[in-house]
Amino acid sequence: MAKNSIEIKPLTPRIGAEVFGVDLANMDDADFKAAHDALMHHQVIFFRDQNMDVDQHKAAGRRFGELHIHPGSPPPDGHPEILIIHADENSKRIAGEKWHSDVSCDAEPPMGSMLYLWTIPEGGGGDTLFASQYAAYEALSEPMKEFLADKTATHSGEHVYRGRYNHRGIDDRDKVYPESIHPVVRTHPVTGRKGLYVNSTFTTRINELEKGESDALLGFLCSHSTRLDFQCRFRWERNSVALWDNRCVQHTAMWDYFPQVRSGHRVTIKGDRPV
Ligand code: SIN
Repeated sequence: MAKNSIEIKPLTPRIGAEVFGVDLANMDDADFKAAHDALMHHQVIFFRDQNMDVDQHKAAGRRFGELHIHPGSPPPDGHPEILIIHADENSKRIAGEKWHSDVSCDAEPPMGSMLYLWTIPEGGGGDTLFASQYAAYEALSEPMKEFLADKTATHSGEHVYRGRYNHRGIDDRDKVYPESIHPVVRTHPVTGRKGLYVNSTFTTRINELEKGESDALLGFLCSHSTRLDFQCRFRWERNSVALWDNRCVQHTAMWDYFPQVRSGHRVTIKGDRPV
């Protein structure tokens, strides 16, 4: 059977593209290369009308690298690599409600995440917003870039994950959540581009500064890095997939659909130590 041709339609000039003509459950090498190239260029890519069971979702994620296991969230039986994304009328909070790069508290934070949603709120809502950290870095003044060049930041999972999954039967009293130090500006290992690497969920301080200075600078960087003109916004449909590069993108999930149901699975792809 003749293959569909692959088409890439950017959402904005800075970030985000829809990819048409790729069936993630049956990617050949050419499909993978097109998707990977699009991800490197557009930083987050979107696919419509996908159909994957759990194993196919994991296999699609594995094309991009080894899968990561979340430090806190309980997975479905037999699938430790799956992160359940689910909200309904009983939810008190949702995953990813503040801007973040996934699990940036890990020493080697995930390079990417592939989220597949099959239940979408009736009446709309539940969009995911993505912000380009290349654009955020490139918009800084030269003196600020120079100042940040040798700064490092602490990223902690403690305040993010402690107690968060108690309602799903997790007793984490004896658990130690990751904390890591990363450069404030990281260089992408594939594209060589520089991007900001701090976020308001995990980053607790800039290590070389006094607390007041650190708070002020982090406040500025976190708000600057999610400026509207660095963003794209994805409107989900049933069976859509978003694949983002955590090394150069922050994201946040919009919780504007309570008490409707929004549900799916994420696989997360291992990354390396930011430099
Ligand atoms: C996340 O992976 O942070 C959740 C994103 C979403 O639910 O849109």
